[in-house]
Amino acid sequence: EVGMNAQDLGKILHREPAEIVKKLFMLGIMTNQNQSLDKDTIELLAADYGIEAVEKVHEDISDIDNIFEQEMEASKESKNQTVRPPVVTIMGHVDHGKTTLLDRLRHTRVSEHEAGGITQSIGAYQVRINDRLITFLDTPGHAAFSSMRARGAEITDIVVLIVAADDGVMPQTIEAIDHAKSAGVPIIVAINKMDKPGANPQHVTEQLMNYELIPEAYGGSTIFVDISAKTGLGIDELLENIILEADMLELKADPKQKAIGTVVEARLSRGKGPVADVLIQQGTLRVGDPIVVGDTFGRVRTMTNDKGRQVKKATPAMPVEITGLNDVPESADKLVVFEDEKTARAVGEARAQQALQKQRENVQHVTLDNLFDTM
Ligand code: GTP
Ligand code: MG
Repeated sequence: EVGMNAQDLGKILHREPAEIVKKLFMLGIMTNQNQSLDKDTIELLAADYGIEAVEKVHEDISDIDNIFEQEMEASKESKNQTVRPPVVTIMGHVDHGKTTLLDRLRHTRVSEHEAGGITQSIGAYQVRINDRLITFLDTPGHAAFSSMRARGAEITDIVVLIVAADDGVMPQTIEAIDHAKSAGVPIIVAINKMDKPGANPQHVTEQLMNYELIPEAYGGSTIFVDISAKTGLGIDELLENIILEADMLELKADPKQKAIGTVVEARLSRGKGPVADVLIQQGTLRVGDPIVVGDTFGRVRTMTNDKGRQVKKATPAMPVEITGLNDVPESADKLVVFEDEKTARAVGEARAQQALQKQRENVQHVTLDNLFDTM
């Protein structure tokens, strides 16, 4: 099964769904417009419409970004929707205290062990506050990691913008605001390092007002919280506001749907092979699920949660490290589950082939361009 029914096929082949059902009946297959069809049936039908149709159907199965969007849409109409944890991304200029804030929330000391005290990848963690789970993404503030910040803003529900009270608005503060705005994500401002003698929250607030972040006291609607990640000042107030904002957004997901997710980070591990940190966005991912991730494919071999514990399933808003892929995917790649391993492999291989083709074309292009340049 590839999650496609007569209606979907009708759309791809520009035919009435009823015609598809009838055609299938003639081919000896009883179905209705909504019933999912297996791969063989789809190919049989497509073949009956001609070679072009087969190609179109194949293209459609390989378009995992499209499948991802469809599952996202389906979740909105699902009757199985349940409340899911918010995904909150911490953004801000280098050294303004993002990792220290998360360390305080998680009771860890990541910041102290980072090379040069600088975050160089996106970290994803779940924290339980009273009885509520919140998923936090830590992003790097260093200028070099702009695309990571953009990605962080795209897969989040809320951005917490950290600004050091003794340093004020800096280039990556502005960049973070831009990323959050273009992703259409609400911003909560946390003015950090309030324990420092040079702290000047008033000045920071005035600076931020130039970027349409206006606190309620000045007639705006942006939440501002003064905090110290070091002493713990204002942290409870910040968390309360995150939960309030999350409640307003009414974040829901359908855990019964087929899982979809986005790669946060991926790497090749010497012991484990290709490893991907994935944020699950809809549905439930289970060990053994056949998956396509970007241009790679496989079967989920192991899943490890943010506390390093092996888990059998991952639910919406949960970050998990997965193994079992045939190759290392790229950050921001989409994860989609397929019904069987054969289809996942076929789609993965087709996508890898397409990617290779594109790469070759680019190389060719470049060499020709270079050639003309030197002539
Ligand atoms: P990047 O990930 O590199 O962008 O930095 P970051 O924003 O994660 O900053 P990090 O948490 O690593 O903190 C940078 C420095 O500021 C560290 O030395 C922290 O101990 C210090 N720091 C963070 N928060 C506070 C605070 O509230 N008060 C004081 N006094 N120092 C803080
Ligand atoms: Mg950091």
